[in-house]
Amino acid sequence: MQKLEDKKISEVAATGKPAIVRLEHISKVYGIGETEVIALNDVSLVIEAGEYCSIMGASGSGKSTAMNAIGCLDRPTSGRYYLDGVDVSQLDDAQLAHIRNRKIGFVFQQFHLLPQLSALENVMLPMVYAGISSSERRDRAVAALTKVGLEKRLNNRPNQLSGGQQQRVAIARAIVNQPVLLLADEPTGALDSRTTHEVMNIFGELNRSGITIVMVTHEPEVAKTTRRIVWFRDGEVVYSHLTPEEMLHVAVAAT
Ligand SMILES: Nc1ncnc2c1ncn2[C@@H]1O[C@H](COP(=O)(O)OP(=O)(O)OP(=O)(O)O)[C@@H](O)[C@H]1O
Ligand SMILES: [Mg+2]
Repeated sequence: MQKLEDKKISEVAATGKPAIVRLEHISKVYGIGETEVIALNDVSLVIEAGEYCSIMGASGSGKSTAMNAIGCLDRPTSGRYYLDGVDVSQLDDAQLAHIRNRKIGFVFQQFHLLPQLSALENVMLPMVYAGISSSERRDRAVAALTKVGLEKRLNNRPNQLSGGQQQRVAIARAIVNQPVLLLADEPTGALDSRTTHEVMNIFGELNRSGITIVMVTHEPEVAKTTRRIVWFRDGEVVYSHLTPEEMLHVAVAAT
């Protein structure tokens, strides 16, 4: 195993594939004066097309703040961000919302499905903003739900589905606009181990079909299924390219 010290931040693209995410010296500061919190401190990070990557680190280390920046849900205080080659640091709110809808799918710990809508309607929703005809919306939503194994649950509302099934609806919703990047913040945090396994299998399949995935997780067992682990500490990336085996060493040392 390469010494962990030698594996600290490396910005060099390993394979020459295009960068889907390129963060350059990103900082995020909340509050001012005495209440100031530096949530991200000069973070530079490259994620290439086709990668399957976990973000780990202690609670409060900046993982969600980084995900919100990567997902264009929040603006960094300073630094530059290129998403799929586009400098999104320069965009206004409307442009940012547009690029987010086209390029990024999100999966959250708490699913965030609309309770009054069926699985099918939840998955059709992102395409409304993308201006797609209603018959095509339906076809694509059925295809996405079939991909996650829910073709028999199209008309169930979220409260008629198990936690794992709800998360699969959320995954179908996240991929239905064919994003280049799938972001997941603790997607298995509310699931039992069997369901966690199912969701990880779906992520693995999606990644093999070409989607770049970045996932925050606290669970070494979940992170182990990805190929690259980025480790945050105190708002900084301390390891940018851990293998699953190296991550287990860092995780033990961190507890
Ligand atoms: N809206 C906010 N206002 C002020 N401080 C914030 C805000 N959001 C996050 N922070 C602070 O920024 C730091 C990083 O928070 P963040 O949510 O990114 O951590 P995290 O690594 O996702 O933690 P967890 O594992 O608990 O989800 C923390 O100190 C947090 O208290
Ligand atoms: Mg978090």
